[in-house]
Amino acid sequence: MCGIIGGITSDSIEKVLLDGLKYLEYRGYDSSGLALSENGKITVRKKTGKISVLKDELKKNPLKLAHIGIAHNRWATHGAPSEINAHPQLSYSNNIAIVHNGVIDNFAAIKSSLVAKGYEFRSETDTEVIADFLEEEKKQLGSLLLAIKRFFYIAKGSFALAILDQQEPDKIFFAKWRTPLLLGRGKGMNLLASDKIAFAPRIEEFYDVADGEYGYLQGDCISLFVYDKEIIKTPTFLPIDIKRSDIALGKYANYMEKEIDEGAFVIDKILREYTKDGKYKFDPELVSSLKNSEEVILIGSGSSYHAALLGCEYLLNAKLNAYAYIASEWAHYPRIRTKNPVFILLSQSGETADVLRSLDVIKNHRWPVISLVNIESSSLARRSNYVLPLFAGFEVAIVSTKTYICQVALLWLLANATMSNTAVIEELKKVGRAQRKVLSFKDAISNLAGKLVTQHDIYFIGRGLDYLLAREASLKFKEITYIHSEAFPAGELKHGPIALIEKGTPVIGFCSDETSYAHLMSNLEEAKARGGLIFFIGIRSGEVDEEKFTFASIDPQVNILIEIIYAQLLSYYATLRLGYDVDKPRNLAKSVTVE
Ligand code: G6P
Repeated sequence: MCGIIGGITSDSIEKVLLDGLKYLEYRGYDSSGLALSENGKITVRKKTGKISVLKDELKKNPLKLAHIGIAHNRWATHGAPSEINAHPQLSYSNNIAIVHNGVIDNFAAIKSSLVAKGYEFRSETDTEVIADFLEEEKKQLGSLLLAIKRFFYIAKGSFALAILDQQEPDKIFFAKWRTPLLLGRGKGMNLLASDKIAFAPRIEEFYDVADGEYGYLQGDCISLFVYDKEIIKTPTFLPIDIKRSDIALGKYANYMEKEIDEGAFVIDKILREYTKDGKYKFDPELVSSLKNSEEVILIGSGSSYHAALLGCEYLLNAKLNAYAYIASEWAHYPRIRTKNPVFILLSQSGETADVLRSLDVIKNHRWPVISLVNIESSSLARRSNYVLPLFAGFEVAIVSTKTYICQVALLWLLANATMSNTAVIEELKKVGRAQRKVLSFKDAISNLAGKLVTQHDIYFIGRGLDYLLAREASLKFKEITYIHSEAFPAGELKHGPIALIEKGTPVIGFCSDETSYAHLMSNLEEAKARGGLIFFIGIRSGEVDEEKFTFASIDPQVNILIEIIYAQLLSYYATLRLGYDVDKPRNLAKSVTVE
């Protein structure tokens, strides 16, 4: 969550910071701020709301030209989104300014010891506690660098920090523990940021700071240390591999529509990367490790968990013992039935704290981890035994669309690879084509969305895989429309949820499988008999009198990948009609790096 950027340039740093913040907005956008350092003086500006609010403020009240600065987008954890809680946070004496991504679990204890020493706090943040801790330790130890080193021993939790010290005005200090931080080197500048996209295209090379590393930027030099080793490290920089054009909006007004459209092409990419001439390109050792496993445990959060649920069904279909879990649950209540489980961890970002916490538990037992991730340089990818990249391309909108499709398609191929079933490769190609056809129904889907936006509640139902798909459809819908929605197994409606159906309550049924068609239709009828407004999205089967979107069945196991495009577009158009920001729904962040 929270995005940080900082840097030293021979030119003005302010624009570099503001540009970077814009590209980090996906990490949080409830407030933002920056601190510039010039001639031994730190100036701070902060605003609640999106980056544009901060930019307007800086236009109205410009800051003096500065070459050194740090900046931050916040996704509130400790303390409400307010100017006082926004970063940068200043230490008690105002000498130290700090931006922070992560959460300090033991901040209350650190705070009490500082209060006992006479420190007073202005904000509710754990970040201000870090600033004061560093100030106090600097007094004791004689240097900020030593104070930072000490912080590694005292702090519990996660942190990526960028720090300015009025007494060492030509430096930006940094430290990293369990949340991403990268250094970037370009012509006339040294930057640091939570994500390399914030650097592009100003930076030619980047270095991924490792956990436990800290140091400072000064002029065009970088000094790097490891907190528990008496060494000075030489960072190995790699060429930057993304360009701003990778995330350019092009003809689109927002990322969500762009990414839904791209989602209809990602299956082709998955097929290119993982199959060739009708055969799988998976590492045979990977496939046999799954095949011979006593159990396969799939773990993810949000949409990645929903993809895990489908993957679990595919693996069960391949006669493997598979289970799917929500990361935040499994991490604290691990369930294992055998001595030798194999884990599949799913994450778009590879930085989701709940997933990384599960990874810690798995790693403690030295169990093998296969990860399906979109960001190949992520913490999850780096710590996995085997990485299967999703190749979805950059996903900017907060809600997951195209990566979910990649995850499901890849899991289907993987499961079929364990059975040496290559016939499905052709089927998947057809699914990609059918997904693209759905895009031509945008106007009709938008009309249907118009009927939903006046409602308070909306229910998605399905049986089997359709129920699992309905869960993703419902998540998507509530995330961006703020309309309450839930998913139910269609047959379970009559055992309770039907009590919620009133005149006009929308109930959307998904059907990807001939065998569940008749039953789903009766469940929809039951809802209709109670006044429900019913809709059908699924295979062209028997007659459907109600409002419907139908398509020709390709394979009951992956027809849901056609339905998901309808569902994503439905949420998208409903949100547009409501006038909300489709890319940045309230309260959410794309990369949730706190538990
Ligand atoms: C956040 C996002 C969701 C996403 C989930 C898991 O909650 O808002 O859209 O599905 O994190 O993210 P991951 O990067 O692990 O797939």
